[in-house]
Amino acid sequence: MLDKLEKLPPDPILGVTAAFRRDTSPGKVDLGVGVYRDIAGNTPVPQAVREAERQVLAEQVTKVYVGPAGNAEFNERIVGLALGPLASVLRGRTATIQTVGGCGALRVGAELVRAANPDAVIHVSTPTWANHEPLVGSSGLALQRYPYYDPATRDVDFDRMFEHIGRLASGSVVLLHGCCHNPTGVDLEPGHWSALADLMAKRGLLPFVDLAYQGFGDDLQSDVAGLRALAQRVPQFLLAISCSKNFGLYRERTGALATVASSADAAAAIATHQARIARRLYSMPPDHGAAVAARLLASPELLASWESEVASMVSRMKSLRALLASRLAALRPDGDFGWLTRQRGMFSLLGLDDAGITALREQHHVYMPQDGRINVAGISDANVDYVARAIAQQIG
Ligand code: LMR
Repeated sequence: MLDKLEKLPPDPILGVTAAFRRDTSPGKVDLGVGVYRDIAGNTPVPQAVREAERQVLAEQVTKVYVGPAGNAEFNERIVGLALGPLASVLRGRTATIQTVGGCGALRVGAELVRAANPDAVIHVSTPTWANHEPLVGSSGLALQRYPYYDPATRDVDFDRMFEHIGRLASGSVVLLHGCCHNPTGVDLEPGHWSALADLMAKRGLLPFVDLAYQGFGDDLQSDVAGLRALAQRVPQFLLAISCSKNFGLYRERTGALATVASSADAAAAIATHQARIARRLYSMPPDHGAAVAARLLASPELLASWESEVASMVSRMKSLRALLASRLAALRPDGDFGWLTRQRGMFSLLGLDDAGITALREQHHVYMPQDGRINVAGISDANVDYVARAIAQQIG
């Protein structure tokens, strides 16, 4: 039976890492998977996370099961980090479950929507993270797209987005990127969030926010101003949180799904569904990353030191954006590269065609997903000239 299975094509993002590893060229550059890199090209564990980890391990006396909802303290603190003071206001009608990373949160959220209404449609942005459709769509829910990015302006086409969302059937789910939109780097402005939230409340649409990069746009607070504006305006929403990037906990698979319902009774029922979904998919989340994040968030000293580490990661990414923009502008004085510094987070789309991306990989050994998304953290002082020359050559 198993011999019938045919080989699948590589994952659009993880396949880039594999192809990069196979390339033996000494000058190769990896602008693929979204992981932060420091000046030496490493993806460090923040010092505050290390210290929290040391404390957790020193005090741990058991590895008994944590239960499907995971670490209750983590659940409360991570939602507090995202929603700020609103988290306490909404606590009575919030059901939070610790998940296997942000991916687990997205999938449990999709399964929850399916349990509530198997005919619900989830609408995702055009374009969106390459794993959104497979991950959310595997729940069996139908997926459709809404307009988001305008390649001509390299910005959000808010009017089209707003108009499209205003026409969706009541009960539709709208998946939004909390900040640092993946793959475009263009985010909604605070006014956009409020207008969309009012529209969704009025039209009976359910927002599902994917928050994977809190702190990577400007800072941990400003990045969630839009999300908080939405949370104040809609009666119900889902929030998928990832701790991979900002805490550097990638391989620990640390995340949470917070579902805010219209009433405490509904939230209590939702909590039982979320636990059952987890139990049927993977039973329980891993403990370590959540225990570490909870410890860090509980300690004012560790929190302050982590905040400054996140700030230095952001300032590095912003300076790399500026560096690449200035090198490209020097090579192509006819071009406008201001979008690189306007966009936020780790990603931007180069806007090259398929042949251009293939040429970057095959001729220049510069790797990125085929949609032309670059991870700016893969740029460094050492490779920026090389990368800029390669990209400049491919611009028509
Ligand atoms: C990315 O977009 O590169 C990251 O979110 C990692 C992943 O799992 O795709």
